[in-house]
Amino acid sequence: MQDVKFYVCPVCGNVTISTGNAEVTCCGRKLRPERVGQSRGIKAEVSGSEYIVSCGHPMTKDHYFSFFAAESDDGVQYVRLYPESKAEARFTRQGVKRIYVYCTVDGLYAKDL
Ligand SMILES: [Fe+2]
Repeated sequence: MQDVKFYVCPVCGNVTISTGNAEVTCCGRKLRPERVGQSRGIKAEVSGSEYIVSCGHPMTKDHYFSFFAAESDDGVQYVRLYPESKAEARFTRQGVKRIYVYCTVDGLYAKDL
């Protein structure tokens, strides 16, 4: 699988995940893949066959994490988050090599496991 790319529509917030080269449009705009920053703040705690992933961050209406994702060689797990919810997600550990988080203000960050 090629590198995972995330496209987030600035108008409606829709998220598209691609593992190849894609032309993604939403709300009449062509979207570019989100740039990925490195995050040291993402924690991935082992709990049986799962990772409990979290990150200290505001979860207010204007500034929150809208998703966590976990990349492995054969796929992507995705968890949508909402304002006022906990900045936390659970993923099956099998094969996961990278965790992503997307902030509605600061953009996309990743941590390699
Ligand atoms: Fe943020």
